[in-house]
Amino acid sequence: MHKRVLTLDEFIFQKQTVARYASGELSGLLRDIGLASKIIHRDVNKAGLIDVLGDAGQENVQGEGVKKLDVIANDTFINSLRVSGQCAGVASEELENFIAFKGTRSEKAKYVVLLDPLDGSSNIDVNVSVGTIFSILKRKTVDGPCQLEDFLQKGVEQVASGYVIYGSSTMLVYTTGHGVNGFTLDPSIGEFCLSHPDILLPSDGTIYSINHGYRWHFSNGVKKYIDHCINSSGERENPHSLRYIGSMVADIHRNLIKGGIFMYPISESYPDGKLRLLYECNPMAFIVEQAGGRANDGQTRIMEIDPTQLHQRSQIFMGSPKMMDRLEKCLQVDYVTEKVES
Ligand code: AHG
Ligand code: MN
Ligand code: MN
Repeated sequence: MHKRVLTLDEFIFQKQTVARYASGELSGLLRDIGLASKIIHRDVNKAGLIDVLGDAGQENVQGEGVKKLDVIANDTFINSLRVSGQCAGVASEELENFIAFKGTRSEKAKYVVLLDPLDGSSNIDVNVSVGTIFSILKRKTVDGPCQLEDFLQKGVEQVASGYVIYGSSTMLVYTTGHGVNGFTLDPSIGEFCLSHPDILLPSDGTIYSINHGYRWHFSNGVKKYIDHCINSSGERENPHSLRYIGSMVADIHRNLIKGGIFMYPISESYPDGKLRLLYECNPMAFIVEQAGGRANDGQTRIMEIDPTQLHQRSQIFMGSPKMMDRLEKCLQVDYVTEKVES
């Protein structure tokens, strides 16, 4: 006989009844995100058949080309959160400003959501994994339309974060600060089912993920660590392998399961880093830390960075603690050089 599956909604409800003072609002939000993800899953899976591939013919606030699916995913998530009434407002990588939801229920809601609706969107046209990233913050203002200060909070203030990976199967992985759990979508019943309880990142690994193409623009410390990875690939013990998909969600998901390190350093093209602190770095850092890993910008823990802008970017390194130790030793070169120069 098959073991009875535990669905995402059942799991969320179980956790809610265990957490004291849980009002159900956070549970409601997580369920709304789960529902929106199923809609995106459907569109991503039919991507070559329905008219969702290709460019939307516009640029986002950051001057990056927007894909049709970026727009669809953005609208789907925002509409789902708007009608739920559990969310005071949304900030998204695809929107210049945050949206404060109108109406008494939304204006009284305790939480705001930050979104990268479609991560790795350049991969959509070539049938490679893409994702969604979300971060949930308790708002600072108490009533009325939410304000910018509700979104500009440090990552340590997140009450939940997670991602959805639309891969060979679709999975939703999230944390509320009590470990990390992963759910696989069973399309035949339309439910996310608990498949990866209590995910723990291996303390060491052999996979390093970085865009080698920008190698000549990296700092000496990053280059030193890359050399260490390349050199170790010839060794018997711990031979490293480069794996880089170009969808942050997919790269980090793989490293979370297998052990590894993900890096997106500053370069000439991206002097402040490419990945966005509020929509990408903080939520993924929360997951990685909850699974036993570390995430920093080379000096500061990602979740301790005080944001000043919605679309702020950051250099980021995250992954298995022992790999992070070795990276940090290499990065010391940068700070020693800086000191000598100043
Ligand atoms: P998005 O599609 O949300 O703009 O994110 C793309 C990001 C991230 O997913 C990935 O890690 C990175 O861009 C890849 O950038 P490069 O192509 O410069 O390596
Ligand atoms: Mn992204
Ligand atoms: Mn995106």
